[in-house]
Amino acid sequence: MSILRICCSPQGLASESYRLSQRIVERLATAGPSDRMDIVEFDATTLAHADGQYAVALASPVDPEGGAGGRGSLGMSDQLIRMLEDASHIVVATPMHNFTVPSSLKAWLDHVVRVRNTFHITPQGKVGLLKDRPVYVAISSGGAFSGPEARQPDFLTPYLRHVLGTIGLTQVTFISVESTARGPELLEEARQQAEIALDRIAFDLLPEEMIG
Ligand SMILES: Cc1cc2nc3c(=O)[nH]c(=O)nc-3n(C[C@H](O)[C@H](O)[C@H](O)COP(=O)(O)O)c2cc1C
Repeated sequence: MSILRICCSPQGLASESYRLSQRIVERLATAGPSDRMDIVEFDATTLAHADGQYAVALASPVDPEGGAGGRGSLGMSDQLIRMLEDASHIVVATPMHNFTVPSSLKAWLDHVVRVRNTFHITPQGKVGLLKDRPVYVAISSGGAFSGPEARQPDFLTPYLRHVLGTIGLTQVTFISVESTARGPELLEEARQQAEIALDRIAFDLLPEEMIG
């Protein structure tokens, strides 16, 4: 098993979303032989935005070879796509920022959702090119965005489900710790709810040949 974890919180290892993602990684580890588990960590908060060369390349009929101007952030995009292809399982640790994904996660998506590389455009619409594999998204939010306590819209989960599906990743599971800003008692309750949600998830292991 080869896990790619993408961390998107400005609070890094101290973040609630990272804490929850760690519980997911632990569940995956117990589902399979731990001596064969690799984790590749990627901190999306350090990622630069896609640049001008990237924008030109995406609007061109073919990918550029390089040339005098270089390839700009296409090189980083190549690396990030390879990391995705090499992973058997993907874990995303993300806070909710302004009702949706934080800018770090959006920057990562802009690098990996790339025409001719991770999706094709057809007369019927965009078709994903990546082999499907499980994606677990650990979300932390200051208030509630699901259930009867929700007082805000959720543009995070429907957006992520759609954009990951565009590149072929349709097995997306969301787990959340909500209401982190509403005091220690509600936070503890939210963590316990997340544990119950984790108990209900079948952490499937894929045959190695699925990778790539
Ligand atoms: C810029 C910013 C925007 C935020 N927007 C929201 C929001 O729209 N909804 C919400 O419930 N919490 C919002 N929060 C609160 C975070 O989601 C909350 O503190 C979360 O637990 C942080 O998770 P982390 O520890 O993984 O970073 C926001 C926080 C920041 C810094």
